[in-house]
Amino acid sequence: MLDPRGIAVSTRSADAVAACERGLWRMMSFYGTPMDDLSAAHAADPGWPLPLLMHAGFLLGLTEPSVVPGARALLDRAEPMIARANHRERDHLVALHTLLAGDWHGACHEWEALLLQQPRDALALQWAHLFDFYRGDATNLRQRVARVLPEWDENDALHPYVLGQYAFGLEECQLYAQAEETGRRALGGGAKVPWAIHAVAHVMEMQGRHPEGAAWMMQWHGDWAEGNGFSGHLGWHQALFALEALDHVEALRLFDAHLHADPAQITLQRLDASSLLWRLHLLGADVGARWARLVEGWDLSDQIAGTFPFNDLHALLALIGAGEFVRAQAWAQQVATRAERSGGSNRAIARDVGGPLMRGMLAFAQGRFNEAVETLYPVRALASRFGGSHAQRDLIDQTLLAAAARAVDRSAGRALLNERCLGKPETPLSAHWASRLGLRRAAR
Ligand SMILES: [Fe+2]
Repeated sequence: MLDPRGIAVSTRSADAVAACERGLWRMMSFYGTPMDDLSAAHAADPGWPLPLLMHAGFLLGLTEPSVVPGARALLDRAEPMIARANHRERDHLVALHTLLAGDWHGACHEWEALLLQQPRDALALQWAHLFDFYRGDATNLRQRVARVLPEWDENDALHPYVLGQYAFGLEECQLYAQAEETGRRALGGGAKVPWAIHAVAHVMEMQGRHPEGAAWMMQWHGDWAEGNGFSGHLGWHQALFALEALDHVEALRLFDAHLHADPAQITLQRLDASSLLWRLHLLGADVGARWARLVEGWDLSDQIAGTFPFNDLHALLALIGAGEFVRAQAWAQQVATRAERSGGSNRAIARDVGGPLMRGMLAFAQGRFNEAVETLYPVRALASRFGGSHAQRDLIDQTLLAAAARAVDRSAGRALLNERCLGKPETPLSAHWASRLGLRRAAR
């Protein structure tokens, strides 16, 4: 039979297909988790491997080392069923094994091959888009979606989610007007599309439209803030708009609402928590015991170290923030050693990007500001390789500005501020850094 997009599936159970479709919607909208739907699909047809593959892929997409054994077990369970599966389902199994082995680039190639055969394979698109994001591949965030979008029916219930992906890809390629128009279009039909809300928030962030950004988050609050797995990150975006206005109180309120230790159950949420607290720390705000609580809940065991440089750096910042310098230094060493031993996509990134970033952050934390600037400045040009968005990687520039303000040579700070104020006209935050650097700029 066929799924709602006309793609052949190797089951005869309409109930199983319908349950998978609900799970797919949850994966693309972040509402709840797809686990119950996928269990229902498995119960409806226990011999069909796709629900197990979807479950494994969902877990691997969390970049959470603790769930990797569970994903491996799901793929092991799917393996004997694969004889009855069709080509597409077999290719998905291959892609997930590639992902499990740590070869993120290889997995994206597998998903691209699937999309060439079937441009409406939402699973391949969803996972490739997610790992394009983790790999900092702005071109594919935009163009992989562009290669399939015209083949989607505008009446398809998942079409707004594909538009949301395209909006985010356009934004990461700095095509802000098109990104905003596409994001607003994704939201225009009444579907709840947090990824599209997010894409437009990114546009406003990059353009320094912080009052409008704060209003945007409030306008769409009902579509992202409750019952949604992406609410922590969107709360982080809302807090960035507050920080741009130097409103520390509001930023901390949003931290407590969306990113505090209890809501931060997974690493993806802890990254945002660490990132927000670090920015507040750079601005001299007192964040109380929040760092300590964040570190408390973070598994920093040896098997976690060196698996993803982006996560490793944010863990380092949390240790520094909590005042645990000795542990932070040990963590940086542990990450370097483990990453060097790994065979995955992240080894070279850890060596070229993650390692220097960690060394620069440690130098900053220990008051070696000249060294922090000299270490961080060259690596910022490579930082997209380490994943995340422009807004997330702005943490590096913020640290550089703070370091340059206290370094002997402030020229890197002046250069960064020049760059910043062309893309993001003078906000209270940029005026703050200008003042710290001894430069005169007027706040908007
Ligand atoms: Fe974001």
